[in-house]
Amino acid sequence: MDKVRIGLVGLGFMGSTHFRVYRDFVPNAQVVAVADVDPVKRKGDISSVKGNIGNDDNSIPLDFTGIKVYSNGFDMIKDADIDMVDICVPTPYHKDLIVAALAAGKYVQSEKPLCRNLEQAEEIKKAVEGSDKFFNVDMCVRAWPAYRHALVNYQAGKYGKMRAANFHRLSPCVDDGHWQDWFSYGELAGGALLDMHLHDTDFIATMFGNPKAVTANGIDGFVSKSGIDHVITIYHYDDGALVSAEGTWGAPATAPFEMTFQIYCEKATLRLTPTDYTIYWTDGTVEKPELDDKELPTGWHHQFKYFVDCVKNGVKPDKYQTFQSVYDAFKVIMAEQESIDKKKTIEIKY
Ligand SMILES: NC(=O)c1ccc[n+]([C@@H]2O[C@H](COP(=O)([O-])OP(=O)(O)OC[C@H]3O[C@@H](n4cnc5c(N)ncnc54)[C@H](O)[C@@H]3O)[C@@H](O)[C@H]2O)c1
Repeated sequence: MDKVRIGLVGLGFMGSTHFRVYRDFVPNAQVVAVADVDPVKRKGDISSVKGNIGNDDNSIPLDFTGIKVYSNGFDMIKDADIDMVDICVPTPYHKDLIVAALAAGKYVQSEKPLCRNLEQAEEIKKAVEGSDKFFNVDMCVRAWPAYRHALVNYQAGKYGKMRAANFHRLSPCVDDGHWQDWFSYGELAGGALLDMHLHDTDFIATMFGNPKAVTANGIDGFVSKSGIDHVITIYHYDDGALVSAEGTWGAPATAPFEMTFQIYCEKATLRLTPTDYTIYWTDGTVEKPELDDKELPTGWHHQFKYFVDCVKNGVKPDKYQTFQSVYDAFKVIMAEQESIDKKKTIEIKY
């Protein structure tokens, strides 16, 4: 394989982000086909697209010269000239495209969340287990430079035992600039709970292991039409560590996006603010770690480059995720929804 030939379905906020990352940062990637239901985006015009993070200029059209353009993702998947399918459509449509692309013998990368519910997750699990092609879900926070630094060094034992941790993901509302305002409908997007807060749930499970239970509280439909717009969750661990996360898209559109954490360990406290990542050692040392963000600035860049290189070289990817770990974290977020609905702590079986 010379370059990995990619077919990208969905050209909204995430699809346009993926397109530019492949184009500008992943030499082994070549987008050879795109698909979208929207005829305007099929011409490369993404001026209507909005996102809550990143600084891309969407007034500049995407150039699809030499790229095949489809109106239907399933037709694109049949294209023999594609090695890998990248799925960036709204969440409820992930499952059918993932299953079809794996069945067609393609490598697959899909946006998060894995899908909309546990039934769909089970179908995806069977498809992934029945395929010899690699599959990646864009759980980009696992690869985001400050988060990755914290995770790798914590798991290497540098900071000692974790005693408490809290994570925050605070976004302006996302009711504008998306396909048919789909984020505003809980049955489609799953609210800020599934769409945004999942990143912290997934990271917590990756860094500290799967929690045995969750207690969550959420507000339904306070800015959207339905779905949990604001959530606070406590993740229960056997050793009594106090771990929590808050996620919201309840702020006005003028408010900046923020993702932050504080992790209190025996030997150090790690603090990510909107502007700074610092490690406060108990011996008094204050460290500003060098992050791996110079050539590849975000978790999207790191993860996509890694996955494409794995496909090109025929090496099974294992740096950022196993399917089981993505699937387990999906169970945790579904338990959080159940905890909110039933107003009680939910034990999780893995
Ligand atoms: N990893 C992250 O950081 C991150 C950030 C934002 C969104 N997401 C996820 O990415 C996915 C897409 O979100 P978005 O913000 O790009 O949404 P969006 O509304 O901006 O874009 C969706 C695109 O899909 C197209 N589309 C809709 N249905 C389609 C279909 N059946 N076939 C082909 N095209 C179709 C729309 O025309 C639109 O261009 C969602 O699952 C979302 O949760 C991930």
